[in-house]
Amino acid sequence: MGNIARHIAIIMDGNGRWAQERGLKRVKGHEKGAETVRFITTFASNHPEIEVLTLYAFSTENWKRPKMEIDFLMRLLSRYLKNETKTYKKYQIRFETIGDLSRFSPSLQKQIAAIKDETKNFNRLTQVLALNYGSQDEISRAAEALCKERKKISVETLGKRLESSRFGPVDILIRTGGDQRLSNFLLWQSAYAELFFSPILWPDFSPEDLETIISEFKRRTRRFGGI
Ligand code: IPE
Ligand code: IPE
Ligand code: MG
Repeated sequence: MGNIARHIAIIMDGNGRWAQERGLKRVKGHEKGAETVRFITTFASNHPEIEVLTLYAFSTENWKRPKMEIDFLMRLLSRYLKNETKTYKKYQIRFETIGDLSRFSPSLQKQIAAIKDETKNFNRLTQVLALNYGSQDEISRAAEALCKERKKISVETLGKRLESSRFGPVDILIRTGGDQRLSNFLLWQSAYAELFFSPILWPDFSPEDLETIISEFKRRTRRFGGI
């Protein structure tokens, strides 16, 4: 009983520090982090309540990183999608994205589109990867589209126009890695999300840690402005 954990969103932070603590290159942390993505996604697909899992994989600000790290992340994403197609099928997971994909290479864009198409009828879980995603970019693009069509801007019209509105409001927003900030992630959809900040670095984050967070979420009182 208690609150329903329908939509969980995670800021997967701490990969670089995880690697550095072990004297490894930062990219090794991203590699390990990709395994955590698989564990958490399969756990979520077996959870009776979770319908949507949105994962922050690359922000509009992450282009500020060294080219070598960005290139590695792009290759890792491509490799992850290639390897995980079987996981999507096995666990009946629909793959989706939010964010402006036009900045990615044509081949990566093609690969992403193909997996979305292959998994579009699966319904045990929707995994949404946020790729070149930033809420400010998302909201301004939606507002621009409405202006161009000479439509009125209201909470309803703008809210509906957002790319992330397809997946509904966030119930649980988690940030791993110890920092307590949102870094431009799902600002609109998290208006009434319950926030959880975990000190655990993303590569070490486990399904048990997620379970503990869900149990605490169930005990919280959500008022949505009411009494
Ligand atoms: C999060 O881990 C993953 C991405 C932003 C792609 P970081 O790479 O930010 O790891 P830290 O925060 O430097 O430890
Ligand atoms: C947020 O982490 C973005 C992702 C997890 C993809 P960052 O590491 O980029 O955030 P800041 O720079 O610490 O705010
Ligand atoms: Mg970080």
